[in-house]
Amino acid sequence: MDLTNQRVVIIGGSSGIGLETARVLAETGASIVIAGRSPEKVDRALATLEGSVTGEAVDATSREETRNFFRRIGPFDHLVLTLASNVGAGEFRTLDFAMLHRAFETKFWPQLIAAQTSLDFLRKDGSLTIVSAVTAHVAFAGASGFAAVNGALEAMVPTLALELQPLRVNAVAPGGIATPFWSDLPDDMREAFFAQGAAVTPAKRMGRPDDVARVIAMLITNSFMTSTIIDCDGGARIRSSW
Ligand SMILES: NC(=O)c1ccc[n+]([C@@H]2O[C@H](COP(=O)([O-])OP(=O)(O)OC[C@H]3O[C@@H](n4cnc5c(N)ncnc54)[C@H](OP(=O)(O)O)[C@@H]3O)[C@@H](O)[C@H]2O)c1
Repeated sequence: MDLTNQRVVIIGGSSGIGLETARVLAETGASIVIAGRSPEKVDRALATLEGSVTGEAVDATSREETRNFFRRIGPFDHLVLTLASNVGAGEFRTLDFAMLHRAFETKFWPQLIAAQTSLDFLRKDGSLTIVSAVTAHVAFAGASGFAAVNGALEAMVPTLALELQPLRVNAVAPGGIATPFWSDLPDDMREAFFAQGAAVTPAKRMGRPDDVARVIAMLITNSFMTSTIIDCDGGARIRSSW
């Protein structure tokens, strides 16, 4: 993989999957810009990265802030969207619709705002990679809210790939990945959840951020990939329970 002289912007790059994607892509010779809302988190992430990597704070829920961010960044080649909050879980019978609205407001809308406001700056035949979730198309009890948000994003991928060609538009749908996404859970609950996830997943482990980062890197560098959604879930879609 060689991305020498190419620029990649990762919104959500200050943590988890996005941060690991920055690490993997920095090894390809690319110049990387990572972004997230918290400037402190961006600085902490930058301190762990080597290569040509810079960072900025931006809140992609704000169209104006995001447009200004892209104006400051200028022309670039590839956009990766790993941003999200962790809200949206719960059994449907009692699902809190106010929370489901927040789930759309903190993942669906900001990913679309970032994608749309980037277009004047993103190379016409570059790439846009969205990170959805395997819950979009695999049944997990308690995940109908995640299914709705991520399914809405995935539903747009083929049409965006058609309308925006030759820009390539793809998505990666992760299964359970051990990242700060789960840090709101108390330690013992998180450990039990991860252990159960590993036990029922055919790969017999939780995912790691680099599992997903390497799929994103492939989608960016393979110029024959567009309108594709790749599951990276250790086989969770063929599990027998969870
Ligand atoms: N971890 C999993 O098990 C899993 C499974 C399936 C799908 N996913 C998806 O994978 C993606 C990455 O998740 P992750 O596990 O890497 O989560 P994470 O470690 O919590 O990282 C989320 C990143 O998004 C940034 N962010 C959140 N809201 C933002 C906003 N409005 N504007 C700009 N940046 C924002 C965060 O920084 P700030 O907080 O500073 O803004 C952080 O850098 C998400 O879309 C998630 O839904 C994760």
